[in-house]
Amino acid sequence: MTNTGKSQLTRRQFGWAALGVGAAGALGLGWAAVEEPRWRRKRQYDAAVQPGVTGANSLEAHAAARGLLYGAAVDPGLLDVEGVAKGHSTDAYTHAVAAQTGILVPENAMKWQALRPTADSFDFTQADRLMRFARLTGKRVRGHNLCWHEALPGWFWGTANKENARRLLSDHIRMVAGYFRGQLQSWDVVNEAIWPQDGREDGLRTRPWLELIGPEYIELAFRAAAEADPQTKLVYNDYGIETEQPEEVQKRAQVLKLLHRLKDRGVPIHAVGVQSHLAAAGQQPGAGLQSFIREVGAMGLEVYITEMDVNCRGLKQGPAGRDAAVAEVYGNYLDLVLAEPNVPMVLTWGITSAHCWTNQLDQRIQRWADFARQRPLPFDDDFNPTPAFWRLRGALDGRNRE
Ligand code: G3I
Repeated sequence: MTNTGKSQLTRRQFGWAALGVGAAGALGLGWAAVEEPRWRRKRQYDAAVQPGVTGANSLEAHAAARGLLYGAAVDPGLLDVEGVAKGHSTDAYTHAVAAQTGILVPENAMKWQALRPTADSFDFTQADRLMRFARLTGKRVRGHNLCWHEALPGWFWGTANKENARRLLSDHIRMVAGYFRGQLQSWDVVNEAIWPQDGREDGLRTRPWLELIGPEYIELAFRAAAEADPQTKLVYNDYGIETEQPEEVQKRAQVLKLLHRLKDRGVPIHAVGVQSHLAAAGQQPGAGLQSFIREVGAMGLEVYITEMDVNCRGLKQGPAGRDAAVAEVYGNYLDLVLAEPNVPMVLTWGITSAHCWTNQLDQRIQRWADFARQRPLPFDDDFNPTPAFWRLRGALDGRNRE
């Protein structure tokens, strides 16, 4: 059992102090225990490199002008929270996030792997750091994620079994959703539960939650989240449902069936996250996604663009051509989805190629032929706006909100 600060709790401690700790965390006291993370890359902010893209020219401002939210996935360990608290940060990543976003999502800080050092303890240090930054900069936050087959801590695989899995999942959700009660715009409650390749008629992924609990784990997760935090919108989030490639059409149809089953059972769900990890090469999203968004809207659900980035796998163009191809996808895709009234927000999965999963060494995303880094986001390694920035901002402007 570890307890070196308010952000680290055992299950028992959380029981009597849920609100207290939540408040303490809300006041930012919890982050006091944070060990200063190893900075992966600290860069000085240089206002000159970002002409005409901040303030009224930012993605946040252009989104807000149309009643939309733009945001990004962030790594709290890279944010200069202390500098922001003192009213002055010189860090480029911190400036970009603060200047451009209206809503944040933790890339990893609210996953089981980050929150659960042991089966009997919680560590909210990094998550609290993000929440403090959000309060200091007036940002909304969406949670990611309460139930997923990835990012499970090592102890999980030797601990979870058919007898305890229901309690393990519901306890986790009640503790975590309870800790952030009333502080989040939404939660990705269940992430990526559809995987037709597992061969089930309902298209559900088998490992680990379905094998341990059965298909009802999805309803269990949503109901536990709703009970722990009735104010936060609850989201089913998935990827690979955007284009007309046969496997994506099949997956999208299974997601739709899952949503209908949940709604028919009165399960509390408010939105669907379409992750939008897109490729500049190959077939692009179109009428099938548009129909999906409209059918989801007819069910009374919103659609969030939750993790957008555009990779360059397979493109033969040079750097400028690749940037242009990425920007084209941002413009065309967002024109398509933002034309739908039940799409209120767009988040990119990171804000700069300097810190993005497609450039993480352990990702199997193919590098360009010249082994250049991917440039899948609104800002590049040097925090210059990419061509994608301008097409993203233009698509936000193009949204005619009634
Ligand atoms: O923090 C540890 C570090 O202490 C350790 O030294 C290092 C050793 O490999 O691992 C670090 O954790 C890594 C973590 O990212 C933080 O960098 C994990 O290994 C790595 O697996 C993890 O990858 C994340 C991945 O989800 C799995 O959780 C990516 O950053 C993140 O971008 C990616 O995001 C997912 C969404 O959650 C769901 N949708 C798809 C999306 C892309 O895969």
